[in-house]
Amino acid sequence: MRGRIADLVERHEKYRSECINLIPSENVMSETARKILASDLVHRYHHEDFYGGLQYILEILQKTRDIIKDLFKAKYAFVEPLSGNISFLAALLALSKPGDKIAILSPEDGGYPFNFELVDRVPVYLPFDWRKGTINIEKTRKLIYLEKPSIVVLGSSFILFPFPVKAVSEMCKDIDSYLVYDGSHVLGLIAGNTFQDPLAEGADVLLGSTHKTFPGPQGGLILTNNADIAKKLAKVVTFPPVLIDNAHVNRIAALGITAEELLSHGKIYAKKIIENSKFLAKELHERGVKIAFENRDFTESHQIWLKVDEREGKIIQEDLERANIIVDRGVRFGTQEVTRKGITKADLEKLAEIISSIIVTKTKPTYFLEEVKTLARKYRRILYSFDVRI
Ligand SMILES: Cc1ncc(COP(=O)(O)O)c(C=O)c1O
Repeated sequence: MRGRIADLVERHEKYRSECINLIPSENVMSETARKILASDLVHRYHHEDFYGGLQYILEILQKTRDIIKDLFKAKYAFVEPLSGNISFLAALLALSKPGDKIAILSPEDGGYPFNFELVDRVPVYLPFDWRKGTINIEKTRKLIYLEKPSIVVLGSSFILFPFPVKAVSEMCKDIDSYLVYDGSHVLGLIAGNTFQDPLAEGADVLLGSTHKTFPGPQGGLILTNNADIAKKLAKVVTFPPVLIDNAHVNRIAALGITAEELLSHGKIYAKKIIENSKFLAKELHERGVKIAFENRDFTESHQIWLKVDEREGKIIQEDLERANIIVDRGVRFGTQEVTRKGITKADLEKLAEIISSIIVTKTKPTYFLEEVKTLARKYRRILYSFDVRI
């Protein structure tokens, strides 16, 4: 007997190989990284003062930290967090105490919808300027000096444009608080020297997921240049355990190889993502799809936002899914995955034509199903990796 789960996974793989994925929170790993993720490392523990058999594991962990530090030009790197969410929680536990205020964008303005109440922290919401697509700096100054949060978080789930890190870092210094940049969405862009460089601009901590624009395994990362902050973070993410006891060494190795891929190809990969999102936004806009922030050339990131309400968002997500185009209900489109697969401008144009026909002209989605499947099947290789010569 083969097992029902094996059968379902096989069907899922075939299905997704025939879909175009535009979800901005996801990506695809190289074949090499996938092999590493499923290697013998997946079975192993790593604490050196207890377990044997570590002659390669310890080197893998150290090399991965070194490559990550090199990639992000950071002095300290924590690769242990199991997700972006755990990285975020680790920073909260390390740099604030119960009852403290945390300044962050509200979920309504695209902020990360973290459950602060459960960890006894109080969110105060940064003022978002919907004309500019970033925070209102004067109102932010007032809020920070009035509320005196222990941590100010910049970065968000809906992120099109860089944040004014330098200006906010000066405010944070004035009131002795930490500036944490949640780069979950844009970590691959930052690694590729595009979008912005939060640590160099004055953030105390850069953290995030390693599987959105950063095209690695699902996981988290925390970076800092400050030795005291690194000490505080180490207490939370290393032994004795609070959040993480045994880090997943297979995931860390897959993260390491992905970081190596980005050291070699990250700049061109990141540049191409942004080029593709601007191009797709323009093509959609010209065909009548309502795209936000035309006044700012739509986007500086991997994301594009549609101007829709909740009800329309659900309809669009479901309609596009009927044509094997996968998006969220935001509606946000992200170009990082199709870029990693090497989509051409001509095919992005074709995609814009199909999407606009479904959303604007209301053509029946299934009319495009075979065309989308054929398009998706064209892009099987993972570029910007060691698998494929570019
Ligand atoms: C801004 C932001 N921070 C943190 C997270 C959590 O990341 P993960 O899914 O890796 O836990 C997300 C998830 O989408 C996010 O958008």
